[in-house]
Amino acid sequence: MYDFKETLAKFEAILKQQADRVERLKNEGDFVDYTKLQKIVIGVVGGDGIGPMITGHAQKVLEVLLADDIKAGKVEIRTIEGLTIENRVAKNKPIPDDVLAELKKCDVILKGPTTTPQKGDPWPNIESANVAMRKELDLFANVRPVKIPEQGIDWTFFRENTEGEYALGSQGVNVTEDMAFDFKVITSQGTDRIARAAFDFARKNGKTRVTAVTKANVIKTTDGKFLECCRRVAAEYPEITFDEWYIDIMTAKLVDEKRRRDFQVIVLPNLYGDIITDEAAELQGGVGTAGSSNLGKKYCMFEAIHGSAPRMVKEGRAIYADPSSVIRAAAMLLSHIGYAEKAEKLSTALEICGQTEKKLVMTGRSDGATGEEFANYILETIERL
Ligand code: IPM
Ligand code: MG
Repeated sequence: MYDFKETLAKFEAILKQQADRVERLKNEGDFVDYTKLQKIVIGVVGGDGIGPMITGHAQKVLEVLLADDIKAGKVEIRTIEGLTIENRVAKNKPIPDDVLAELKKCDVILKGPTTTPQKGDPWPNIESANVAMRKELDLFANVRPVKIPEQGIDWTFFRENTEGEYALGSQGVNVTEDMAFDFKVITSQGTDRIARAAFDFARKNGKTRVTAVTKANVIKTTDGKFLECCRRVAAEYPEITFDEWYIDIMTAKLVDEKRRRDFQVIVLPNLYGDIITDEAAELQGGVGTAGSSNLGKKYCMFEAIHGSAPRMVKEGRAIYADPSSVIRAAAMLLSHIGYAEKAEKLSTALEICGQTEKKLVMTGRSDGATGEEFANYILETIERL
């Protein structure tokens, strides 16, 4: 017969680790109040592939927009090196220790895409830098807005970012040669904080509806807990309509032109959020157009939702990569740290340049504009506003 001793020991270690995490969550503090900081440090970390290039363009935009406060010493923009796949592999860590230490000295981070190895890649199968950063800095709310004004679409996804299948994604076990197990974790504390983040956002932004998306009819225990916690939080926001959908039909409804504009704020566990936000971004014009914030109580990180596009680099097309997504992430960063007006201007410029005026078009190839030209176009547009 099988001997499960080894597996059981691993499982016990995982349970202990997660129970410790729950205890930490019970005692976590409140969100940082940026108005109380003497100086806000923005870390910019380029990542891999097209990452350093497009993130560099976004950094330039931030430097122009924040020039006065940088000069006055109220803001510092700091470039952080070393989150490349080569360095991560050399150190055998999803985030090398010295890089993590630098990141922790920042208040907010703008991050370029990082290559995530998978089984069969030339790289060892180390954990994703994204997932590790979200865990290390406890960035529990992945907020992903998708707007298509001409179709009346204005969605904000609140994807839980530290639990679900992702929490133990690199700690699954091959119990026998033929039987593999992964784990999904949902906690009351972890769900409560993402649900509150979604409802608070709804309340502050005049939204009237929050939708929870799960597969609680099948994944009864973990998704069941997620839903139950959302219902409990919803009861504290009586002015906001709360409704519940399953992930499969929700995926369909996002392409249902009659119904999709009814959705406003959507809260969901990690993996469903990962998948459906790519679908939503595609409707907006592609994953290259979407920015995303990863919010925690202490740290926050802003990034594009797409990958590092190694093929573009290999084919010499990195200079044609569209920086809109990280620039959008930079706009979210600005808004988050209290520069609402500058953020608004930048978002408007992104809309003008990318959707309405389109004086330059990005194709990802030499028949289109370069990322640098596009970033300059955005800066010129801001000056006109
Ligand atoms: C995202 C990405 C990441 C994720 C990958 C790169 C690990 O797809 O940010 O949505 O799955 O979360
Ligand atoms: Mg994704």
